[in-house]
Amino acid sequence: MTNQFPQDFLWGVATAGHQVEGNNVNSDTWFLEQLPGSMFSEPSGDAVDHYHRYREDIALIAELGFTSYRFSLEWARIEPAEGQFSVAALDHYKRVLEACVEHGLTPVVTFHHFASPLWLLQSGGWEGARTAELFARYCDRAMTHLGHLIGVACTLNEPNLPWLLESFGIGGEAPENRGSVPVWAAAAERLGVDPSSVAPFQFCSTEAGFAVKLASHQAATAVIKAHRPDLRVGWTLANSDIQSIPGGEAIADKVRRDVNERFLEASRGDDFVGIQTYGRTVYGPEGHAPAPDGVETNQMGEEIYPQGLEATIREAARIAGIPVIVTENGLATEDDTQRLAYLQTAVEGVASCLADGIEVGGYIAWTAFDNYEWVFGYRPKFGLIAVDRTTQERTPKESAHWLGSFAREHAASQVAQPA
Ligand code: BGC
Repeated sequence: MTNQFPQDFLWGVATAGHQVEGNNVNSDTWFLEQLPGSMFSEPSGDAVDHYHRYREDIALIAELGFTSYRFSLEWARIEPAEGQFSVAALDHYKRVLEACVEHGLTPVVTFHHFASPLWLLQSGGWEGARTAELFARYCDRAMTHLGHLIGVACTLNEPNLPWLLESFGIGGEAPENRGSVPVWAAAAERLGVDPSSVAPFQFCSTEAGFAVKLASHQAATAVIKAHRPDLRVGWTLANSDIQSIPGGEAIADKVRRDVNERFLEASRGDDFVGIQTYGRTVYGPEGHAPAPDGVETNQMGEEIYPQGLEATIREAARIAGIPVIVTENGLATEDDTQRLAYLQTAVEGVASCLADGIEVGGYIAWTAFDNYEWVFGYRPKFGLIAVDRTTQERTPKESAHWLGSFAREHAASQVAQPA
């Protein structure tokens, strides 16, 4: 692979607060994890205690050769009760950002990665009339405290995910039917609200949800830009490479439209769009088609298909017409040689896009550490660094050494290149 990578290309690994920090107890996700009949297979608990171990973790990421670290702020920590902001929590994230700067890592900061404060779920969640305003207010507070240290800002993580999940038959209940789903009924009862109003970020795929997310992204972008006009701001999307087999064309077209195209169209005018691709999703006459017999699969039973990334970068650049940053890409496997091969193919795909003149600003692998994989709990291993959750000991895998060294080598040769 020749060095197609531009001077300021970000080579990073990503995490999300709820998945690594531990004890995000004021969040809606923590609440949903505890419910009877929860869709979460186990609670997140201490996660990998990144909240207390961030210094060593950041030092390790830098030592491996990366130049960037993507992580999220937890709104539920910063605003644990509506209108009450925690300076201690903001100070914590300030220390995290300072540690990145100290270690030469560009911090890519996500303001919302799936988990929201529990009080927001109680007040209409991601269909609520005041949500965009409340989200923008939180972003404003965070920018006042932290803005000067941020390298790249991501407003919302994967606002389009619920439509992809719905195409797999997960979630997607109309508000009036939520009361008949035991977990939403239980949530509503505990929150003292009507089940029709229970709208968590990852699971609501209504038109109202689309409108609230878009308004939130736009309001947050304006607020962030008001603090730092120079800061790159965008949202990050779940962009599967949507394909069909005979008879599935119409379904694939609809999913492509709902999940990829309309969100990419809505990104026009942003500084960048974050692309998060894990493989391809294939539809047949019956809907989502399982992985064909005999292909290698990941720990979720999906086909291993690293080529999907190149396709989604090209799609995003074509539709959104703005620079792309790969903000997530990775593989759930216990076999790190599979991950290594996957990352190599994915990075080759990025190089090929760059060679064709597509503006790609970075490749940030998912994920730094084996962590809490939402509804799947701790079983899937996406990490480049293994974690023993009894001792919290970290052990970089071969894939971490390979990608980190590749990053170091390319970052160094970028510096050496004549201007
Ligand atoms: C999310 C991550 C998640 C990853 C792997 C993305 O949907 O942003 O939080 O862990 O995919 O499933």
